[in-house]
Amino acid sequence: MSQPPNRPPPRRGFLSGLAAAGAALATGLPAPAAPSWLPLRCDVTRIPPDHLALLEATIGEMQQRSRRDPADPKGWRVNALAHTRLCSSVSNADPAQVHGCWWFLPWHRVFLAVTEWKLRALSGDATLTLPYWNWSNDRRIPAAFTRPGSPLADAERHTPDRDLRPVEVDRLLCDPARSALGVAALEARRFTARAPDEIPGSFGGIAKPNGGAWHGRSKMETVPHNAIHNYVGGEAADGSVGDMTGLARAAFDPVFFAHHGNLDRLWEIWRQDPARRATEPTDSDFTQKQFVFPWLDGTVIAVSMSDLETRSLGYAYDRLAVMRDGATPPGDAVAPNAAGPRLASAILPVPSGATRHELRISGVQPGDRPLSVEICLARPGDPASWLSVGALAIGPIPGLATFPDSEPRFDVTAAIRALATPLVEVAVLPLALGPSQRSWPAFQYAGMAIVAPAA
Ligand code: C2O
Repeated sequence: MSQPPNRPPPRRGFLSGLAAAGAALATGLPAPAAPSWLPLRCDVTRIPPDHLALLEATIGEMQQRSRRDPADPKGWRVNALAHTRLCSSVSNADPAQVHGCWWFLPWHRVFLAVTEWKLRALSGDATLTLPYWNWSNDRRIPAAFTRPGSPLADAERHTPDRDLRPVEVDRLLCDPARSALGVAALEARRFTARAPDEIPGSFGGIAKPNGGAWHGRSKMETVPHNAIHNYVGGEAADGSVGDMTGLARAAFDPVFFAHHGNLDRLWEIWRQDPARRATEPTDSDFTQKQFVFPWLDGTVIAVSMSDLETRSLGYAYDRLAVMRDGATPPGDAVAPNAAGPRLASAILPVPSGATRHELRISGVQPGDRPLSVEICLARPGDPASWLSVGALAIGPIPGLATFPDSEPRFDVTAAIRALATPLVEVAVLPLALGPSQRSWPAFQYAGMAIVAPAA
């Protein structure tokens, strides 16, 4: 592997995804010609030791470069700032903001790929890949990212001392059909939301720009995505938050890439169904879009959204199944703690004769602290009947609310059927976001109701 390190792709400026991947290979990297040589991103718990060591060394070198010179284009900081720059724009209506719209999945796919190309160029190993964290199975930060002294652990974190709850990883155990999917968002039939109403149920979000300047988080983006950011970054007793908790610092934490790797893998699992895949955008607004990323030589490269195949971007996944094996993940058996603190509760009438039921919470307002909550239902007066129906994860919003996901909806059809009750008790339970957290922000909302949505 005689790759002269740090050489940029030969064609600078506008590169399609395909050309950019090819160009990265053309810098002298040994070209893996046969498709079977496509480098595989693997589950971090199965990463070969030499692969992990090379990843640590390469990321460690990038971090050191940034310590010596924050502006070093080969440094970790400059790479992370690509996320900060595009993602922390003040308003979500800002055209540069990739969260809260259909750019969420593709932009992060390309950001990971570009980061991988850099790791390959800097290490001289054309097969180096980012590993993914399968949080459906592993409900704690994987050991490779927490080993003391590892560059992969070099981040500000205030992770709570608990496993991720099933609802935080979008595992809805009270609903047999969704529980079988592993990640409930995989049930979404459409990629693109056609109207604001469809945003929370869509897989990929709403078009941007769109006539109404609508935005909001899709199924995947709210939970599991947001909930895991909150869990990893957490909140310290003095109110400071970890890197992963806020968009501006998230990509400084190496585990960001393993978290987004799993989300990206779930997108591959979802698009294995041709009917679902056919709903992915073909509009020129989408396919002609180019995003720019800083390259190692201080220039920028532009990657077009016209070809988002993982093959074209230079990687594939080792496995396209949600769960690693049949074992019950830790925490699945732990019932919601409805006897503990509650941020809100209500007893609501259940519309009779409906085939579907939705819990709608209106007027949710983000505060200045991060907040993750578990939403549970029970038969009033029956403490043995609590069921988790979903989670909500809100980031800290300093001042202006940038993501007005203020009207969350939860499909509670299976829970209502199981509880068989004309009145249902709803509880909003806080999920601790720090190792020693004892206080929670208020859950600010206007009202809740169980409704029978039109089919
Ligand atoms: Cu750009 Cu997980 O956030």
